[in-house]
Amino acid sequence: MSLLKIVTIPDPILKLPSQPAHELSREVLLQLIHDMTETMRHHPHCVGLAAPQVGRNLRVVVIDVTLHPKPHPNHGLLVLIDPVITSAAGKRLGREGCLSIPDLTGNVVRAERISVRALGPDGAAVKIDAGGFEAVVLQHEIDHLDGILFLDRVSSLKTDVFRRA
Ligand code: NI
Repeated sequence: MSLLKIVTIPDPILKLPSQPAHELSREVLLQLIHDMTETMRHHPHCVGLAAPQVGRNLRVVVIDVTLHPKPHPNHGLLVLIDPVITSAAGKRLGREGCLSIPDLTGNVVRAERISVRALGPDGAAVKIDAGGFEAVVLQHEIDHLDGILFLDRVSSLKTDVFRRA
């Protein structure tokens, strides 16, 4: 058990595409998942974490929207290996933050509903249909696996990015 150090911008790790994780040994993968989940829960209001944010360029995300102060429909803890968005519909604009960009938030347009396929921690295929806030978190975390940050998604760095108080 250990808390992992959060990588922040401008660390180049955050801009690299991550490698598939399904071929990792089960022991290494379960340890990483365990530590990422513990690290996510350690940071107040953190509802998702992607492996590049802890310095590992692997396609692993953990998400738990129940950790958000406001209630949202959700699947509880999601641990996704090699997640892929298979469909997306609708649009919503929302404010996003990221542990790797500690001083800023930004307005980002995301799909309102998505389907994701992935492997679960036991190696079994999973399909998630998510909407609203949980769908946004999924899109944000899966972006990290392709080296994309919310700052890359704002339409204007001048009007859609805000300094945290
Ligand atoms: Ni993030």
